[in-house]
Amino acid sequence: MRLRELKALLAPRPVPLRPTARALAGAYNIAALQSAAYRALPRAVFDYVEGGAEDEVSLRGNRAAFAALELVPGICKGVSFVDTSVELLGERLPTPVVLAPTGFTRMVHHEGERAVARGASVSGTPYVLSTMATCSVEAVAAAAPGPKWFQLYLLKDRALCSDLIRRARECGYRQLVLTVDNAAQGARERDVRNGLTIPPALTARTFLDGVRRPRWSYHFLASDPIEFATIRLAEDDPATRMRKLAQGFEGTVTWDDVEWVQEQWGAPILLKGLLASSDVAQAGRLGLSGVVLSNHGGRQLDHAPAPIDMLAEARCAAADGLAILLDSGIRRGSDIVKAVALGADAVLVGRPYLYGLGAAGAAGVARAVEILRSELVRVLTLLGVAAVAELDESYVRQRRAALPVHLPSSGVRCSRTR
Ligand SMILES: Cc1cc2nc3c(=O)[nH]c(=O)nc-3n(C[C@H](O)[C@H](O)[C@H](O)COP(=O)(O)O)c2cc1C
Repeated sequence: MRLRELKALLAPRPVPLRPTARALAGAYNIAALQSAAYRALPRAVFDYVEGGAEDEVSLRGNRAAFAALELVPGICKGVSFVDTSVELLGERLPTPVVLAPTGFTRMVHHEGERAVARGASVSGTPYVLSTMATCSVEAVAAAAPGPKWFQLYLLKDRALCSDLIRRARECGYRQLVLTVDNAAQGARERDVRNGLTIPPALTARTFLDGVRRPRWSYHFLASDPIEFATIRLAEDDPATRMRKLAQGFEGTVTWDDVEWVQEQWGAPILLKGLLASSDVAQAGRLGLSGVVLSNHGGRQLDHAPAPIDMLAEARCAAADGLAILLDSGIRRGSDIVKAVALGADAVLVGRPYLYGLGAAGAAGVARAVEILRSELVRVLTLLGVAAVAELDESYVRQRRAALPVHLPSSGVRCSRTR
């Protein structure tokens, strides 16, 4: 090696000056974005995003279920360009990815859902705004031009609920997603430990943790108090409003309620939070446009199965034309490929874009989406598949029992290699 080359190799690399650019510099996959979010956020906030219900069995199970699936490539197909776009509910999407609804987003970043909408609009990825959003439906609609959907939790006050649906429709939200896996609030024990309840009961440790994240704390203190901005209650202070609203959600949703919501929306809706194929069949009978197979990212019923394991049955039970979306545990382009190959029309991701948001605001959200897109392209190319639409179950198989990693040194070989 020549001296000039050695010097170039040892020269200090320029460090980006802007904090968001610094945070994203090493974010080459979703796990790296997760680490960046861990460094940027107080522990209680990171745990709010990261945590699952009770023993977090479903949370871990979601990832394990994807890891248990293998991808079987085809070779010599001459694939040099792949088309990642898909047709979903009458629209062309750049990839089969939708950003899932997540509440309290201004806790993760002071610009909250507006920043998510801006990050999503870079690629034209649809974003589902939560009923528990901390920016209003109007503010998010105005923040960026991309496609937006609205997620509804049924409210006990039906007049308020009806008004909310009307506002979302008038603001141009294209789909209504009714979440139905909230008969009770999942026990997220990390939040209990951290005092992150409604209203918050922050502990001294949580406070000190905030001090160690001055950037986040500055913005938190300099911004308006966090509240459910979309639902207007003209009374009380933000904390009381938040408590009243938390009590105002209808836990016991029935199929009649689903029909009522569909009538209010005036068009077929999507139902989120189903797993059983009998429920998917009923959704089809009621003329819904689609379902989202979901265990809420492991945050509601612990020990619920991973949605990817329920997909094949759901596909069989689904009426013609019923869109099947799936979420919970998608972290890689290969996970998207597995879900689509097994019959999903698209997937939703929650935590991946929240990591990006926590690390670097709108730019971090855009990075999360771009990471998943570029991984999707690479995996499809390696599989020899030229378009997402060409994927089918022949590309996926269940992993067999683990093969021994270390063969004995005596030269014993397994029969297949002899
Ligand atoms: C912090 C957080 C808040 C969430 N809030 C909502 C919500 O308000 N409404 C909803 O339907 N789902 C909510 N979810 C569930 C997501 O929509 C989605 O089902 C889940 O995040 C998918 O799993 P993943 O995070 O592994 O991608 C939330 C998830 C997280 C992580």
